Formats: sequence, C-alpha cells, structure tokens
Amino acid sequence: MRIRALRRPAAAQVQQLVAAAVVVVAVWACSCFHSSEAQLQVGYYNATCPNAETLIETVVHAAVRKDAGNGPGLIRLFFHDCFVRGCDASVLLDDVTGNGTVEKTAPPNFPSLRGFSVINRAKRVVERRCPGAVSCADIVAFAARDAARIMGGVRFAMPSGRLDGRVSRAADAIANLPPASANLTDLVARFAAKNLTAADVVTLSGAHSIGRSHCSSFSARLYPQLDAEMNATLGARLRAKCPAAAGRHNRVVDLDFRTPLQLDNQYYRNVETHEAVFKSDQALLDRNDTAALVASYAANRKLWSQQFAAAMVKMGSIEVLTGPPGEIRLKCGKVN
Ligand code: HEM
Ligand SMILES: *[C@@H]1O[C@H](CO)[C@@H](O)[C@H](O)[C@H]1NC(C)=O
Ligand SMILES: *[C@@H]1O[C@H](CO)[C@@H](O)[C@H](O)[C@H]1NC(C)=O
Ligand SMILES: *[C@@H]1O[C@H](CO)[C@@H](O)[C@H](O)[C@H]1NC(C)=O
Ligand SMILES: *[C@@H]1O[C@H](CO)[C@@H](O)[C@H](O)[C@H]1NC(C)=O
Ligand SMILES: *[C@@H]1O[C@H](CO)[C@@H](O)[C@H](O)[C@H]1NC(C)=O
Ligand SMILES: *[C@@H]1O[C@H](CO)[C@@H](O)[C@H](O)[C@H]1NC(C)=O
Repeated sequence: MRIRALRRPAAAQVQQLVAAAVVVVAVWACSCFHSSEAQLQVGYYNATCPNAETLIETVVHAAVRKDAGNGPGLIRLFFHDCFVRGCDASVLLDDVTGNGTVEKTAPPNFPSLRGFSVINRAKRVVERRCPGAVSCADIVAFAARDAARIMGGVRFAMPSGRLDGRVSRAADAIANLPPASANLTDLVARFAAKNLTAADVVTLSGAHSIGRSHCSSFSARLYPQLDAEMNATLGARLRAKCPAAAGRHNRVVDLDFRTPLQLDNQYYRNVETHEAVFKSDQALLDRNDTAALVASYAANRKLWSQQFAAAMVKMGSIEVLTGPPGEIRLKCGKVN
C-alpha cells in the first residue's frame, strides 16, 4: 500500500484531481436536476468548521497506517450507511435497548463491519475544535473518501451537509443490503431502488479490490460443489482457507488475493478470469453491457478510479436528510 504525503500532491495527482473534480461536478449537477433532496455542497463546513475535512483526513490516515483493514472497513461502512435509510449515520447507532434491533447488529453488519472506532475518534477530534457543527453522516462520507484515496484511489471532493437520522432498524439493513449470493438482476434492481444504475453496480463493486470476507459469506460457492463459475485454482485455494466442517472458526480471506491492499482495477481482471470471491462479483459478466464495462475497467485503471470517485459521490447523495428530523449528533453512537 502506498501511503503518500498529504500536503504536496505531485503533478500527476493534481491532474487526476482535476479530472475527478470535473466528473464529480457533472454527476452532482445531474443529481441536483433529478432530485429535490440533493442540497449537499462541496465545502459545506467552510464557515462553521474550516478544518473539519483536514482533521478527519488526519485521523483516517493514522488509523489506516496502524491497521490497513480500516481502509476497506470505512469504505464499506459508507455503503452500508447510504443503502439503509440513506446516508444518515443510522448504521452507527448503538443498541441502547439491548434488544438487538438496530442496523449495527443485523447479520449483514455484525460482526463483519469495521471502522466504527475510527469514526468515533474523528468525531471526538472534530467536536473538540467545532462543538456541535459536523454530522456523523458527513464524517462517514469524508472518511470513506479519504480511505479510498489512501488505499490507492484518486483524491476527490465530497459534497457535505448531511444530517444524522434518529432511527435505526435491523430489518432495514436486511432488506436493503444485497447478499453476496445475489444475481445481476437482483443487484441491478437493488441499486435502481437507490437511483443507481447497472453501471454504478459495476463501478462500485470495484471496492472489492481491497479488504476481506468471512468464509461464511461465500462458502455456498465452495461446498458441496465448487461453483462452476469459479476458477478451479482459486476454488482450491479458498477451500483450503475455508474448511467445510460446520462450527469451525469463521476465517477471513482477501477479496483480491493479488493486490489486497491496493484500491486498483485488479478486481476487474479477477472477474474476467473467474477469480472473484462472491457470486455477486462474478455476475457482472452476465450481461453484455456490464461485461463490457468490466473489460474497460480491467484495461484502464485511471478510468475506473475516476468513475469510482464519481459513483461514491452519487452514492453519498442517497436519501440524505438536510432538515428536520435530522440532527447533528453529539455522539455518533446515540441520538441526541
Ligand atoms: C454489489 C453488491 C455488494 C455485495 C453483494 C457485497 C457484499 C460484501 C460482502 C459479503 C462482504 C464481506 C463481508 C464479510 O463476510 O466479512 C463485502 C466486503 C466489502 N465490501 Fe461489499 N458488497 C457489495 C457492494 C459493495 C460496495 C458498493 C462497496 C463500496 C463502495 C463495497 C465495499 C466493500 C469492502 C471495502 C469490503 C471489505 C470490507 C472489510 O475488509 O472490512 N461493497 N461486501
Ligand atoms: C468552500 O471553499 C472552497 C474552496 O474555496 C470552494 O470551492 C467551495 O465552493 C466553498 N463551499 C462553500 C459551501 O462555501
Ligand atoms: C427495541 O427497542 C426499540 C427502541 O426502544 C423499540 O422501538 C422496539 O420496539 C424494541 N423491539 C423489541 C423487539 O423489543
Ligand atoms: C435472481 O435472483 C432473484 C432473487 O433471488 C430470483 O427471484 C431470480 O429468479 C433470479 N434470476 C435469475 C435470472 O437467476
Ligand atoms: C430517486 O429519484 C426520485 C426522483 O427524483 C426520488 O423521488 C426518489 O426519492 C429517489 N430515491 C432515492 C432512494 O434517492
Ligand atoms: C485459473 O486461474 C489461474 C491463475 O490463477 C490460471 O492460470 C488458469 O488458467 C485459470 N483457469 C481457467 C480455467 O481459467
Ligand atoms: C451479447 O454478446 C453475445 C456474444 O458476443 C452475442 O452473441 C449476443 O447477441 C449479445 N446480446 C445482446 C443482447 O447484445
């Protein structure tokens, strides 16, 4: 993993930044046109907490340096926040009643979702500087954006101004988050429900270029039969790492065994050679248009990185709260 200095981007990075910004602006204008709820702004905290984004970036950078798994963890946290009741930090709410009914404790999130402590740390740092000014939902979005850049993606502007929600239900997580066993029809439908396209399914799935999975999430592809869509060499490797015997420790494997810590386009090459871990990844080849996009991304890392940045911004505008009953939580784990 390359962890670059933050202050002085090289010329190439600046070029990338500018290109990404153009894409971002285009997507942004487009989402404003289509949706009345899109009132997010780049630099929303310019006046109320000018250092917010820098402070958060510093916390994320330190956390990823300490444990690289925080990078993929934070990117997935943003996805799981936005797909369930919108990007409102509902995924962060603790189960105060202890009755196991919040998103955080639902099977798609527990015990696999990680990065919560990084968000809490960022919130503490930001609260110290600007009390009550920055929402947890925006911290999740900035942290995911920063994690993507630190893991090898491009730097891009993330519009902000989201408020935090007051409701979190496990059932919403189960209903809205796609399972790893999903086919392409199902994936496209679930993304369409969030105003995201089939192209967005392909582009955002590239996040599986980093991070890990528990064996239980895909063992149905290994036993009793190896999924015919999976490369047999990969199948043998995954079987060795994920024993069949029920009740064994639920181990983890890298999602991209070639470059597990690089947010790059290797994921798409793996899909093309049938070396993707999830059925949902392999399914991207099941339609001509999505397969063609996989091929473009496999051939062009820069194209994918820029489209990924734009798609993250788009995902970040799903059902955002910019007024009541939204609030700026004082602690990310509980409503005010
Ligand atoms: C397209 C539908 C998707 C499905 C079915 C899916 C499913 C999964 C599953 C089952 C895991 C492993 C959980 C575990 O067992 O530990 C995972 C990990 C991950 N997902 Fe997805 N995902 C999807 C889309 C996305 C999107 C849109 C993003 C972000 C943009 C994303 C980012 C990640 C990351 C970074 C990891 C690794 C997490 C870690 O290492 O902690 N996924 N995904
Ligand atoms: C915040 O400042 C940046 C840099 O000057 C500018 O691009 C952005 O539009 C500003 N945003 C707001 C909401 O003031
Ligand atoms: C769990 O707690 C929430 C919040 O107090 C409450 O609305 C819900 O009815 C409780 N559910 C169960 C099953 O006890
Ligand atoms: C895709 O999955 C859905 C939901 O599980 C199922 O109803 C549908 O029949 C599947 N479609 C195909 C083409 O396999
Ligand atoms: C999708 O867009 C429509 C039309 O602008 C809007 O009414 C709806 O709330 C949006 N849905 C989501 C999940 O953003
Ligand atoms: C499976 O992947 C390996 C590389 O790991 C490759 O050498 C082999 O040709 C692939 N098999 C098939 C059937 O594609
Ligand atoms: C998809 O691609 C295949 C193989 O190139 C071709 O035979 C088929 O007609 C295409 N289908 C559509 C709907 O374009």
